[in-house]
Parts: sequence; C-alpha cells; structure tokens
Amino acid sequence: MKIPVALRETPYEVTLGEGVRHEVSAFVNEHLARARAVVIITSAEIRRQPWFDLSFDLETHVIEVADGEAAKTLSSVAQVCEQLARWGVSRHDVIVGVGGGAITDLAGFVAAVYLRGVTVLHVPTSVVGQVDAAIGGKTAVDLAAGKNLVGAFHQPAGVWCDTTTLATLSDRERTAGMGEVAKCWLLEGRRAELLALTSMDDLIEMSVSLKARIVAADEFERTGQRALLNYGHTLGHAIESVALARDANELRHGEAVAIGLAFAARLAQRLGRVRDDVVVETDAVLAFFGLPSRLTGDFDAARLLEAMSRDKKAHHDLTFVLAGRQGFEVVTGIDPVLVGEVLENFQEA
Ligand SMILES: NC(=O)c1ccc[n+]([C@@H]2O[C@H](COP(=O)([O-])OP(=O)(O)OC[C@H]3O[C@@H](n4cnc5c(N)ncnc54)[C@H](O)[C@@H]3O)[C@@H](O)[C@H]2O)c1
Repeated sequence: MKIPVALRETPYEVTLGEGVRHEVSAFVNEHLARARAVVIITSAEIRRQPWFDLSFDLETHVIEVADGEAAKTLSSVAQVCEQLARWGVSRHDVIVGVGGGAITDLAGFVAAVYLRGVTVLHVPTSVVGQVDAAIGGKTAVDLAAGKNLVGAFHQPAGVWCDTTTLATLSDRERTAGMGEVAKCWLLEGRRAELLALTSMDDLIEMSVSLKARIVAADEFERTGQRALLNYGHTLGHAIESVALARDANELRHGEAVAIGLAFAARLAQRLGRVRDDVVVETDAVLAFFGLPSRLTGDFDAARLLEAMSRDKKAHHDLTFVLAGRQGFEVVTGIDPVLVGEVLENFQEA
C-alpha cells in the first residue's frame, strides 16, 4: 500500500506492508540515477535483528550510532558527517535511516546538514517511527538543555514502513508506540468500541494517512493544522522531561503522550468544551492499548506547570490542543491556576 505525502515541492510516498524494505533498492535505481553510494545509518541493536537484510546495487556503507535517544547528539552528527566525508559521499548519494524514531531523526538531520543537504530515505522499524517520526520532515537532535532543540526541516524522498520489523519490538516499546496511534484514533474521532475490529496494519495505515494529510496541508507548522498532532503532548513533553532528567527508562514517549491525552480530555471537560463522555471514551481507547491514563509516581505539579510553559511549542504560555464542539483546536492562554487544579485532581485520581 502506498500513501502519498502530497507536498507541493517535494512530494513522496509512504509504502506500507510486510517486506516492503526490499523495495528501497529498486527506488534508488529508478529515481536516484546519479547516486553512486548508499549509506545506512542504524544502531548495533537494529543491525542484529533478523530482518536487517537491506541490500543495494550500489556501493553500500553502514554506520552504527548509539542506540535510542543517545543517538540524537551533536557529537553523533559530527562523527557521522566526518565518516561520510572520509568515504567521499557526494551530494548525489543517499542516506538511509533504519531504526526507531531516534535513528530516523538523526539520519534526517545529518542528511539536512551534510553538504547542505543530501537525499534521505527512511525505513522506520518502531511503531513511533512508522506512524510519526519518519514522516513529515522534522529532524532533530537533543541538547543538554532539552530534547529536539537543534533541528531542520528535511523531507525524505520516500519512507518504507515494513510491518515485518515490528515483530522484534519489545512489548513495552510496542505498547508505548500505540500512544501515538491512540492520539490519531482520537483526533480522527473514532469510537473505542471499533478498536477490537481493527487490525494493526489498519491502525498504522490510519495513523500514517492522518499524518500525511496534515503534513501536506501545513508542512512548516504555519497554519496551526500541524500543531494538532501535538494532541496530548503539552503535559506529555513536561512529564517526559522531568522523568528523563532522573531516569532514561522511567517513561517512554508514547506512555507520556497517553497520560497527556487523558489529561487533555479532562482539561477540555473542565473548560466546558466537551462533555464527560469524551473523558470516558479517551480512557477506553488508552485502556484498549494497555496505556496509562493516570499520572502516577513523583511529579510535582508546580514543576510540570513550569515545564509546560517552557515547551518550545507553547510560546511561553499554556497552550493545549483540546477537543471542542468544532473539533480539535490549539487553545492558547489557558489559566495556569485552572490547569494546576485539573492536574492535582488528575494525580490523585
Ligand atoms: N521527527 C518527528 O516528527 C518525530 C515524531 C515523533 C517522535 N520523534 C522522535 O522519535 C524518538 C522516539 O522514537 P522511538 O519510540 O522509535 O524510540 P527509539 O528510536 O529510541 O527506539 C526505541 C528502542 O526500540 C528499538 N527498536 C526500534 N525498532 C526495533 C525493532 N523493530 N525491533 C527491536 N528493537 C527495535 C531501538 O533500538 C531502541 O532501543 C524520539 O527521539 C522522538 O523525539 C520524532
């Protein structure tokens, strides 16, 4: 199955299905005729998976970077770029990111800055990578001061979401990844009761299609439509940043988003934008995926409020994507006292 990302200047396709990783080589031969070399950026963890068997007709190099979020540093960018230069990789050559969202973010950023931009293709292998990170051209690495603070827009020329690769994900990674899928399900206004009738492939397709549609409508996050994809992320990012600072394994991104979705439903209800059934429905969707819908653990409400107002997408005031009678919208300038009250109830619940 092919899902178009219909950008005006750089349209591309997301190919979805079992075994589609084997189609990348034919794409390079057909569309990137001037390429002489392919450089795969991945991690040792990913490289030892049984499905890591991509091959190309061109000279092929593999660069292993640190696994997971540890890959997203400026020093990884420097090391990878130095290696590309040593191999004489040119502007016509191709970078292929193979791995979770951290790897595709790094590979995309390297491709954006090396020689001021080379072609990147992505083979995302995690749920988050397939439904979110690899699509849409946002690339970034982290600073000590926070996640994703250095980045660039650089669209891939193609994305291959091979569902075979998901089989080797740990249960925790797979479940956490469903946080982004739950977000898409809720943004699409679908009912929790239909989830039991929907296959994993259909869930991925629904999420990819939503992201592709929104990115095509608002590539650079200028009209506000792309910001809707931040549903659940205002509190999600805040708890993620507090948790990450003390233990990298405490909370996965998708788990934080799930908690953020449950909170956003309660905030919308408290603001009189929606009725109680939205909260019930949101909790039912999260429960179906085995995701958390409560904030447990040691999270100080004042610290979370401060982190939410510092979110780089929040413009220094409290901004949430909230459901309402006209659908979802970005709501700015929300009273911090009210948010704090909803948060305290949410933590105690
Ligand atoms: N650019 C964007 O628009 C965007 C959107 C969402 C998330 N992100 C970024 O994506 C990252 C999170 O992505 P993630 O959740 O994929 O985490 P991740 O990339 O850190 O991967 C998590 C773990 O899963 C492993 N893994 C990945 N695929 C596997 C497979 N098929 N089999 C076995 N193990 C596998 C990885 O090796 C890693 O250990 C964050 O850095 C986030 O900022 C970016």
